[in-house]
Amino acid sequence: MKSIINVVGAAFVERGRVFAARRAYGSEYVVHKYEFVGGKIECGEQPEGALVRECREELGLDIEVCGKAGCASFEYPDKIVNITVYLCRMLSGYTVKEHEECRWLPLSLIDERDWAPADRDILKDIVREFAPRYSFVTGATGYMGGAFCRQLAARGENLFITGRREEKLAELSRELSGRYGIEVRYRACDLSDERSRGELFKSACGYTFGRLVNVAGADIQKAFLKYDESKITFQCRALFEGAVSVTRFCLENAADKFSIINISSVSGLYPMPYFAIYSALKGALTSFSVALSRELKGTGATVTAVLPGAVYTRPDVVEYIKAQGLWGRLAAKSPDYVAERSLKAAERGKVKYIPGFANKLMRAFTLLIPMRLKLAFIAKKWSKTQKDAF
Ligand SMILES: NC(=O)c1ccc[n+]([C@@H]2O[C@H](COP(=O)([O-])OP(=O)(O)OC[C@H]3O[C@@H](n4cnc5c(N)ncnc54)[C@H](OP(=O)(O)O)[C@@H]3O)[C@@H](O)[C@H]2O)c1
Repeated sequence: MKSIINVVGAAFVERGRVFAARRAYGSEYVVHKYEFVGGKIECGEQPEGALVRECREELGLDIEVCGKAGCASFEYPDKIVNITVYLCRMLSGYTVKEHEECRWLPLSLIDERDWAPADRDILKDIVREFAPRYSFVTGATGYMGGAFCRQLAARGENLFITGRREEKLAELSRELSGRYGIEVRYRACDLSDERSRGELFKSACGYTFGRLVNVAGADIQKAFLKYDESKITFQCRALFEGAVSVTRFCLENAADKFSIINISSVSGLYPMPYFAIYSALKGALTSFSVALSRELKGTGATVTAVLPGAVYTRPDVVEYIKAQGLWGRLAAKSPDYVAERSLKAAERGKVKYIPGFANKLMRAFTLLIPMRLKLAFIAKKWSKTQKDAF
């Protein structure tokens, strides 16, 4: 009777490449073949624990196990191998100790015959899942996020979308893949929560991103003293910390050409009494985007901060636009307009983009007005509105 061996393997997939370790010894079926790093699960060990141990022993490598990539069973002439492969991230450098060589192989150039037979089925699944590029969209379940998703899907871009609510993401995912025939992956995440972001990044492990659109935001608007501690934390984190953190993750997993669009706001152009936290955070997001675009110059990655004025989105925002009368009608834009023009602005390499002529005009005009007058005008006008939809 053939012996049955249970083994684990680590698939490191980054920027469209998979980490392959070539075996230096073993039976004729596996020697000199590539394999996932790993080995036998010892008695009493959990699979993830075995993987951590094997990576340390074989490569002196510390890893994070992100999720299961697949399992397979393969019958060799002398044994049956049950293999479970996990997607993992490298947390340290490595030293080749037991293998002939280790290298990163482009997923698009994989020849499965070079791999150990037991690894091939899972390798095929990995190539199918991770060779295509994805566009990452936060706030996808909102009005503007949905508009970006539809425009990107219509261009044939695969999407990795996130928002806070799983059901809404599932519904949007079905709509987008059904209507546009693209691949859509999703994961619910509260971007104001570091742990939730950690889970999001684990579930996005292995994907390569050609684009990031940071849309998520919380336009809480009220007098500063009406905030409590939890609202302050929530808004600051959702609007700025979340966007910056997702930007770093996507940059680490970016394709050679990578475009970041950060949805800021004209409200970030100057301080706004009664909208003080929002305008400060949107100002910070614009400043971050402009600075980062300079840092990334020449790397193939670009950054565009989009500063929309009012956009026809939630019912309360639409009501507010109506209450502005003629100016509201002239300046307000639809989510589709903002999405389409922002994508074009990013393609033109614009670092800062204000959608709509009226908003550009308003920006130019208000530059001439002394700050003291601007603040007095804004304070009077904005003290009358209070929004807290989050
Ligand atoms: N509407 C305007 O007039 C206007 C003007 C200028 C700029 N903007 C900016 O445009 C962006 C989108 O606005 P919108 O009007 O489309 O808003 P929206 O419909 O209210 O959508 C907001 C999106 O952000 C997500 N979100 C909120 N807090 C989050 C958190 N903590 N973690 C993860 N996701 C979170 C929401 O997820 P859930 O659906 O799960 O809540 C939703 O997908 C915002 O950044 C906003 O500041 C809007």
